[in-house]
Amino acid sequence: VINDLSLHIIIKKKTRAVNVNVLPPDVLTWVSEYVPEIVAFVRRIVDNGYGYESNGSVYFDTAKFDSCPAHSYAKLVPEAVGDQKALQEGEGDLSISADRLSEKRSQNDFALWKASKPGEPSWDSPWGKGRPGWHIECSAMAGSILGQSMDIHGGGFDLRFPHHDNELAQSEAYFENDHWVRYFLHTGHLTIAGCKMSKSLKNFITIKDALAKHTARQLRLAFLMHSWKDTLDYSNNTMESAIQYERFINEFFLNVKDILRSPTDITGQFEKWEAEEIELNKSFYEKKTSVHEALCDNIDTRSALEEIRALVGQSNTYMAARRSAKLPPNRMLLQSIALYLTEMLKTFGAIEGAEPIGFPVGGNGQDSDLENTVMPYLSVLSDFREDVRKIAREKKVTELLRLCDELRDDILPELGVRLEDRDGLPTSVKLMDKETLLKEREEKKKMEDEKKKKKEEAAKKKQEQEMAKLAKMKVKPSEMFRSETDKYSIFDEMGFPTHDAEGKELSKGLTKKLRKLYEAQEKLYNEYLQSTQNGS
Ligand SMILES: *[C@@H]1O[C@H](CO)[C@@H](O)[C@H](O)[C@H]1NC(C)=O
Ligand SMILES: *[C@@H]1O[C@H](CO)[C@@H](O)[C@H](O)[C@H]1NC(C)=O
Ligand SMILES: *[C@@H]1O[C@H](CO)[C@@H](O)[C@H](O)[C@H]1NC(C)=O
Ligand SMILES: [Zn+2]
Repeated sequence: VINDLSLHIIIKKKTRAVNVNVLPPDVLTWVSEYVPEIVAFVRRIVDNGYGYESNGSVYFDTAKFDSCPAHSYAKLVPEAVGDQKALQEGEGDLSISADRLSEKRSQNDFALWKASKPGEPSWDSPWGKGRPGWHIECSAMAGSILGQSMDIHGGGFDLRFPHHDNELAQSEAYFENDHWVRYFLHTGHLTIAGCKMSKSLKNFITIKDALAKHTARQLRLAFLMHSWKDTLDYSNNTMESAIQYERFINEFFLNVKDILRSPTDITGQFEKWEAEEIELNKSFYEKKTSVHEALCDNIDTRSALEEIRALVGQSNTYMAARRSAKLPPNRMLLQSIALYLTEMLKTFGAIEGAEPIGFPVGGNGQDSDLENTVMPYLSVLSDFREDVRKIAREKKVTELLRLCDELRDDILPELGVRLEDRDGLPTSVKLMDKETLLKEREEKKKMEDEKKKKKEEAAKKKQEQEMAKLAKMKVKPSEMFRSETDKYSIFDEMGFPTHDAEGKELSKGLTKKLRKLYEAQEKLYNEYLQSTQNGS
C-alpha cells in the first residue's frame, strides 16, 4: 500500500508526529534522496519508446503509449484526456510557460524531467541540469521499493487525474505491464462547516488545532462514522454526533465493567440461559456478521458503527429489563459482547492500549492500570458509604446523608469517579475521565438551574394572574362602570349606566350586554365576600 499526499515534498522537512493513533508507515521517502532512481526511471521510459527529449526536458508520449495494444492512457478518468486546465493544475506551475508548450509533441504530453530555469534547484542528468517532473517521483520511489506491482494505492479524490493516471502510464511504460496498481482508494475531501478548506477562507484546520478541541478518539469516531470515499464535513454537528457516540459506548462499557466487578453472590456466576439471553446472543452473532459484511463492502465503517450502536442498544435493553425484574444479568454474555466491541474499536484505532474492556481511563495509556489499582479501594469506600447511608436513613441523620451526597456529587467527580446510587442494588462505581465527569456535572447543574428558573417564572406568572383576578373580584358591581365617564354620563342608583357620554339613552342591545357584565361581576364579588368571610 502506498499513500499519496496532496502535497509533494521535494525538500526534506522535519515533521512532528501528531498523535491520532495512526500506525507509522514502514517506509517514508523523500524525493531529494531518489534523484538517481528518477533519472534511471525516465531513461528507461525513453528507451522503451514512450518518452522523448526536447530542449533539455523529457516528455511522456501519451499518443504513442495509448496506441500500443498492451496499454491504455488515462484508465482512471478517460474523459479527462485533453482537459488542459486539469493537466496544468496537476503539473504545477513549473511546466506550463507558453514557450515550453511548443516543446511537446502533443498538448496531452506531460513532463518526466524538466530543464531547470536559472535559480531553480537542479540535478545533473543525461539531458543537462534539471529536476524531476511532477508525477515521476511517486512512480520512481514506489517502483524502487514495491517493484512492478502493488495492491493498493491511496490518495485524495482530486489526484485521480492527471496525477494518478500519469503515474500509472509512466510506470506501466517503465515496467511494460498493465497492473502497476491493482486498486486505487480515492478518499473524499474534508470540508470545514460546509466550506472547502482553504488558507484564503481562513478555515484551514490542522490536526493539532482539531486535537485542541477534541480528543483523537472523537476525531477518529467522526471519520469512522462517515464513508471514507465521501466528503466529510468537520463541523460542530459532526463532532457532536461523534461525542454522543463515544458517550453511548462508554456508558455501556462502564455498566458492563460494573456488573463484572460486583460480587458473584449478587449477580451469580453460572447463569441459566433463558429466552432473553438466547435472543441477545442471537442478535450478538447477527451483528458480528453484519459488521463483517459492512467492512467487506468497500470498508463501510459507517454501517459497521451503526450495527455496533444497535448491538449496544439491544444489550442496554437487556440490562434494563433484568434490572427492573430485579434479576442479575448474564455476566458471561455481556462480557463477550464488551470484549468483542473493544476488539473492534481497537481495530479501528479508537482504543489504544491493552485494556481488555472499554476505553482506557487516565489519559493516553500512561495510566492504563489505574482501574486495577484503585478499584478495590473504591469498592471498599463505596460499600462503606452505602452502609452509612442505610443507617443514616433509618435513624434520620440528615447531616450524614448530606455528607454521602457530597462525596458522590462534589468530591469523587474531582478524582474522576462517578458513583451511581440505585434503588435496591449496590451502588455502581465508574472510573472515568475527570474532564468528562466535570463537564457532565456542569451540564447537569446548568439544566437544573434552567429548570428552576422556568419553574420560578411560571410561579411568578401564576401569582400575577391570581393577583389580577383578586383585584377584579374586589370591585363592587355598582362601581365597575362609574369610572368610565368617557363612555357614560348618567348612572342609576345601582351604579348601572343609562346614558352615553353625549347624554343619549343607551340602546337596548348595549344595555343587555352591560347587564350581563354587571351580573358576572356580582357573582365574582359575592365569591370574594364569601372567601373573606371563610378565610379570616
Ligand atoms: C528551449 O528552452 C529555453 C529555456 O530553457 C527557451 O528559452 C527556448 O525558447 C526553448 N526552445 C524551444 C524551441 O522551445
Ligand atoms: C461551533 O461551536 C463554537 C462554540 O462552541 C462556535 O464558536 C462556532 O462558531 C461553532 N461553529 C459552527 C460552524 O457552528
Ligand atoms: C450463541 O449464538 C451462536 C450463533 O447462533 C451459537 O453458535 C452459540 O451456540 C450461541 N451460544 C449459546 C451459549 O447459546
Ligand atoms: Zn503521487
